[in-house]
Amino acid sequence: MRLRQVGRSWVVHTPAKLNLFLEVLGKRADGFHELETLMVTVNLFDTLVLTEEPSTEVSLRCRDVCSRFSSDSQDVPEGRDNLAVRAAELLRSETGADFGIHIDLIKRIPSAAGLAGGSSDAAATLFALNQVRNLGLSRDELQNLASVIGSDVSFFLSPSPTAICQGRGESIRPIQSPVRLHFVIAKPASGLSTAQVFNHCRPVENPQGAEALVESLQRGDLMSAGRQMVNSLQPAAESLNPDMKRLRDRFSRLPFVGHMMSGSGTTWFGVCRHRCEARMAAARLRASGPDRVFVAESPP
Ligand code: C5P
Repeated sequence: MRLRQVGRSWVVHTPAKLNLFLEVLGKRADGFHELETLMVTVNLFDTLVLTEEPSTEVSLRCRDVCSRFSSDSQDVPEGRDNLAVRAAELLRSETGADFGIHIDLIKRIPSAAGLAGGSSDAAATLFALNQVRNLGLSRDELQNLASVIGSDVSFFLSPSPTAICQGRGESIRPIQSPVRLHFVIAKPASGLSTAQVFNHCRPVENPQGAEALVESLQRGDLMSAGRQMVNSLQPAAESLNPDMKRLRDRFSRLPFVGHMMSGSGTTWFGVCRHRCEARMAAARLRASGPDRVFVAESPP
C-alpha cells in the first residue's frame, strides 16, 4: 500500500483478495470459526481519498464507479456500518488523537462478494491515517487494531501479498510470493452474508492444510495447485444461493487450472496459465451470462 499526497488530500489504492484455500477447522466458544486460509491480493482496487477536516467528525462518501448492478452501490453503507469509518473512529479512540477526516471512497471491488473490499478499505484507512497524522503505530499495533474491526482486515497490512491466515483469519503468516497468478473473477448480482454462510458450514473432518498448495505454487506447478484448491464454505454457499451452483457449472465448462468460490462468496474465480488465456475465458463468460467478469492477477 502506498500513500500519495494530492493537494490537501491523501490518496491510497487498496486491493481485493482471493482465497486460494479455505478450510473451516471448527466452531469456537466466541461464535467465530477456526480457519486455515491462503489469501492473495489481486489488482482490483478501491481508492480512498482522505482529507483532514477542522471538525472532529469522521465522514465518508462512496461512489461506485463500476457497478452495473444497482444493488451493489446500495450495499455500501456511508455511516458507522462502513468498516473504513469504524477504522478511523477506532484509531481516534485508541490513540486519543482528536482529528476530523473526510473519506471519499471510490468503489471498484464488489460488495458481499468474498473479495474483502470493506476490510481492505478499513486496512487502508488505518495505514493512511497512521502516516497522515504521524501516530507512530507499528505494523503489529495496526494489525491488532485491524483484528478488532474484522477477521480479514489484518491481512491487508501484511508485508506480503500472499499469506496463510489462521485463527479466525487475523493471525497472518506471510509467505514468499510464488508465481504471478492469472485469474478470471465472476460476480453475480446476488450477494451472500458472511455470517449466514458460516452458520450453515460444516467444519472439515480431515483437514489438509494449505502447505501442499503453497509448495505446488512455489514449484510453479499450477496443475497440482489447481487440484489442491478447496473452500469448505462452498457447500453452505451453494445451499443458500442458486447462483453458486450456476457459476460452478459455467466455470467447469472452461479450461481453468482450478476454480472455486472466494471466501464466503458470491464471487467465483478460475486460475489460468497466462493472461491471454484469462482474457479468452473472461470473454466467453461475459458472452454467455449476466455476471460481472474481471481479469485480474496477483503481484509478481
Ligand atoms: O470478522 P467478520 O466481521 O468479517 O465476520 C463476519 C461474520 O462471519 C462473523 O460475525 C461470524 O459470524 C462469521 N465468521 C466466523 N468465523 C470467522 C470469520 C467470520 O464465524 N473466522
